[in-house]
Amino acid sequence: MSYSSDQSAHLSVNDARPSTDTSTVSKVPHKQAHQPVLHAEKLSKQVKSGERALTILHDLYLSVAAGESVAILGKSGAGKSTLLGLLAGLDTPSDGELTLFGQPLSRMDEDGRASLRAGRVGFVFQNFQLLPTLSALENVLLPLELSPRAGETQTAAQWLERVGLGERMEHLPKQLSGGEQQRVAIARAFVTDPELVFADEPTGNLDPDTGAQIIDLLFTLNREAGTTLILVTHDHALARRCDRCLRLADGQLMPFEPSAAANGGGDE
Ligand SMILES: Nc1ncnc2c1ncn2[C@@H]1O[C@H](COP(=O)(O)OP(=O)(O)OP(=O)(O)O)[C@@H](O)[C@H]1O
Ligand SMILES: [Mg+2]
Repeated sequence: MSYSSDQSAHLSVNDARPSTDTSTVSKVPHKQAHQPVLHAEKLSKQVKSGERALTILHDLYLSVAAGESVAILGKSGAGKSTLLGLLAGLDTPSDGELTLFGQPLSRMDEDGRASLRAGRVGFVFQNFQLLPTLSALENVLLPLELSPRAGETQTAAQWLERVGLGERMEHLPKQLSGGEQQRVAIARAFVTDPELVFADEPTGNLDPDTGAQIIDLLFTLNREAGTTLILVTHDHALARRCDRCLRLADGQLMPFEPSAAANGGGDE
């Protein structure tokens, strides 16, 4: 995707701000609904594609309040995974400002970003990124080992039970199905009780029943623990359960109304 800034000039930067619609706000009553957990302004990402520069994100605006659940939709290749990586501080923007928990993430080095994330941010990767030589249990334990809660094996085991993998704790990733690996990745993202979870197509590899159970779990945590959720999905039914839906196109986010049909019938 390549385009000039003129082509996106008609898009308002205000449109991805938290909704002031009372029906939306009422879904997050007891959570500090007005304090942004994450704030991005004029965020841009360019990468090299051979000789050419490829613009993936361009002057993107996003502000997410504590306790909100936000769905991000968009066509394959629109830049959703790139955006999630930037918002979580796993990658660096080419330009723009980004604050996470009130800290200027865009101006921190890798170590600073990692220590800001530690224990507070969970990430479910689209391709899981489990460590191949570690068992399911060891993979889930890893974020705890990097926090003051090192050695809480019981907590990791409880999370695996919660995602239905109590019988698979000692399996290596290659001994697990795609959907089982996805559930290990979800347990790993939640094991530290993070304030903010990014999930890149968290139900992409799950059958409808298992997917529904995992989604119920995500929203229970969002409701009960006040965990802020930022989800990338092509599933309109999942998107409709979020407080807010945004569509990524031409490098920017715009409000989006998911279809009432189960999976939208579109290419989002
Ligand atoms: N490091 C990179 N170098 C070159 N191109 C890249 C790089 N990272 C991403 N891209 C390109 O940027 C575009 C956006 O990729 P991204 O993975 O963010 O899309 P996506 O919206 O998550 O797609 P999908 O729905 O298929 O997962 C793609 O065209 C991809 O090829
Ligand atoms: Mg992706």
